[in-house]
Amino acid sequence: MDGNGRWAQGRNQIRTQGHLEGLKTAKRIVKAASDLGVSFLTLYVFSTENWKRTAEEVGFIMGLVRQYLREELNFYRENRIRIRHYGDAGGLPSDIAEELREACEDTRHFDGMQVILALNYGGRDEIVRAIRKLLAAGAGKNGEFSEEDFRHYLDNPDIPDPDLIIRTAGEFRTSNFLLWEGAYAEYWITEKLWPDFTEEDFKAALTQFRGRKRRYGGTKV
Ligand code: IPE
Ligand code: MG
Repeated sequence: MDGNGRWAQGRNQIRTQGHLEGLKTAKRIVKAASDLGVSFLTLYVFSTENWKRTAEEVGFIMGLVRQYLREELNFYRENRIRIRHYGDAGGLPSDIAEELREACEDTRHFDGMQVILALNYGGRDEIVRAIRKLLAAGAGKNGEFSEEDFRHYLDNPDIPDPDLIIRTAGEFRTSNFLLWEGAYAEYWITEKLWPDFTEEDFKAALTQFRGRKRRYGGTKV
């Protein structure tokens, strides 16, 4: 969800206004995805690198996360949406970690779309944490260890790899997002800033995705 800061700067507003507007987009896109029958939607909310920002901006984003989790709970219930988390909960402010834990707990029996919040998430961090879990479990002795075994130690082993990764604000890089899981994800990139991203843009991304030929390194589609 990139481009909130640029959106605000372009209007001579402070960056946090962009995050406020970005939150509205997030709500709209979650609704649209749920209506369209998407099974899993991951929102890259805050990366392990985003702590480099000013304390004011970080605090504001965390406040928005709390607001989002509280305001949307009824919507999740009505639409049977399950909330989940990618990232290191241990590195989050304790009140946010608790709020997130509760939202995941309150919605865990819902069988509709799953919305996964990548919060204090970094692909490298996830892989390193997975290796720590693996070592703690005493796994992989004698070199007997497959990709599938490794996957088991990632944050959400039951969630399928993403089919499509949408990037806004015209950036052509992974930014440490789902490095393992996204190995064969299709990317769709738009110049639009996240606050300007619409349901129509989302549908356009899905339509283009349907036409992509995925060979996974092979030759057959
Ligand atoms: C994305 O917008 C929101 C977060 C990373 C939380 P940015 O804040 O990165 O917006 P730009 O890149 O400065 O425009
Ligand atoms: Mg950015």
